[in-house]
Amino acid sequence: MPCNCCEITDNAFSEAEARSELRNYRRRGPAAQTKLILQAIRSLNLRDAELLDVGGGIGVIHHELLEDIVDHATHVDASSAYLQEAKAEAARRGHDRHVRFIHADFTDVAPDLPKADIVTLDRVVCCYPDFRGLLKAAADHSRRALALTYPRETWYLRIGLRIANFFQRLRRDPFRVFLHPVAEMDALLKREGFERVSMRRLFVWEMALYKKTAA
Ligand SMILES: C[S@@+](CC[C@H](N)C(=O)[O-])C[C@H]1O[C@@H](n2cnc3c(N)ncnc32)[C@H](O)[C@@H]1O
Repeated sequence: MPCNCCEITDNAFSEAEARSELRNYRRRGPAAQTKLILQAIRSLNLRDAELLDVGGGIGVIHHELLEDIVDHATHVDASSAYLQEAKAEAARRGHDRHVRFIHADFTDVAPDLPKADIVTLDRVVCCYPDFRGLLKAAADHSRRALALTYPRETWYLRIGLRIANFFQRLRRDPFRVFLHPVAEMDALLKREGFERVSMRRLFVWEMALYKKTAA
C-alpha cells in the first residue's frame, strides 16, 4: 500500500542492509534487545498464540516464536527490502504458511487487521514521528500483551541522535530517529488498559513488556 512513511522507510533501509542483517542473524542469532523481547514473551507461557509484529524488519521475532509458542503471525512493515528478506527466511524455515506479510504503514492498515494475542514493536517507535498514533493502534490490536524496545532517554543518546539527524538533514534525507518520552508512552499504554510488568535495559535500548489488565 502506498504511503509517505513507506517511501521514506524504503529509502532508509536498503536491500543491502536487509541482506546483511539477515546474514548476521543467521550467524549470531537474535540481537541483544530482540532477545529481551523474546524472553519477555516466552515468560507469559502462551501456547498456539497469534502474533502481530509491527515493523518486524527481517522477521526475527516470528522466525523464533513460530518454533514454540506462536501458531500464526502477521508482519506489517513499511520497508519492502526488509519484508523481502523476512519472506525468504520464513520460506526457508517452512513457516511461510504461518505468516502473513503486509507492506504498509501500520497506522494506515490497522483498522482492517484482526487482533492478536501478542503485539511486538522492536526498535520501531523510534523510526516513527507519531508514537501516539502508532502505540494506540498497536494497543487496540493486542488481546494479552505488548512488548516494545525503544532508545533510552539518556544524555548520550540525546546527543547521538541529534548528530545522526543533523547528518540526515545535510543529506536531505527525510528519515529521522526519535527519542520519544518514555513516561508519555507508558501513560498512553496505561490509558489503553495495559500495565507494565517488566522492563530491562541495555546501553542503548530499553525493553518494556505490558500485559492487558482491562477487557
Ligand atoms: C530499525 S528497524 C527495526 C526492524 C526490526 N524490528 C529489528 O529490530 O530488527 C524499524 C522497522 O520499523 C518499520 N516501521 C517503522 N514505522 C512503521 C510503521 N508505522 N508501520 C510499519 N512499519 C514501520 C521500518 O520499516 C523498519 O522495518
